[in-house]
Amino acid sequence: MASPLRVSILGCGNWGSAIARIIGSHATSLRFANTVKMWVYKENINGRKLSDIINTEHENIKYLPGYKLRENVVAVPKLRDAEEGADLLVFVVPHQFIRSLCDDMKGCVSPKARGITLLKGIDEGPGGLKLVSDIIREKMGIDVSVVMGSNIAN
Ligand SMILES: NC(=O)c1ccc[n+]([C@@H]2O[C@H](COP(=O)([O-])OP(=O)(O)OC[C@H]3O[C@@H](n4cnc5c(N)ncnc54)[C@H](O)[C@@H]3O)[C@@H](O)[C@H]2O)c1
Repeated sequence: MASPLRVSILGCGNWGSAIARIIGSHATSLRFANTVKMWVYKENINGRKLSDIINTEHENIKYLPGYKLRENVVAVPKLRDAEEGADLLVFVVPHQFIRSLCDDMKGCVSPKARGITLLKGIDEGPGGLKLVSDIIREKMGIDVSVVMGSNIAN
């Protein structure tokens, strides 16, 4: 049997936290590694790091209050820790951060990894309009799939 796929989520906002609940519950099957890493952009809430709050209270009290994350969803503040060894990278940051995120990740992601983007919108850059999936594919050299849904849910 193939080794279990390691999933990392890049982003922990409203949609990132909601999808983390779903991915966390699916990662209990043998096809996936049980631990799901979720990269958390550095933020402090009442003097505490959001990543520490998530790992102790298993809840993203800023972006998805009132809904528990499974304990196998582990918040990581360092991008390198989130991307290292990942087979599936789930991109779920606001679109204005996608280019810099990909630049920061370059060089550490396996070429065999696959990306899944949950981002909405089309990027407008110097070369004109571009799909977010194309930005990730071109910058990181990995295959990318796209999931679409609503765009204003809290
Ligand atoms: N919320 C929805 O209903 C929904 C549905 C479908 C798709 N989407 C898409 O998912 C993506 C994420 O949406 P969301 O609602 O989770 O966003 P959000 O506004 O709730 O999340 C903001 C996230 O961005 C992070 N962040 C802040 N500054 C940053 C920086 N400089 N670099 C990197 N990250 C930074 C924050 O820590 C937080 O994790 C967007 O592209 C959105 O269009 C959202």
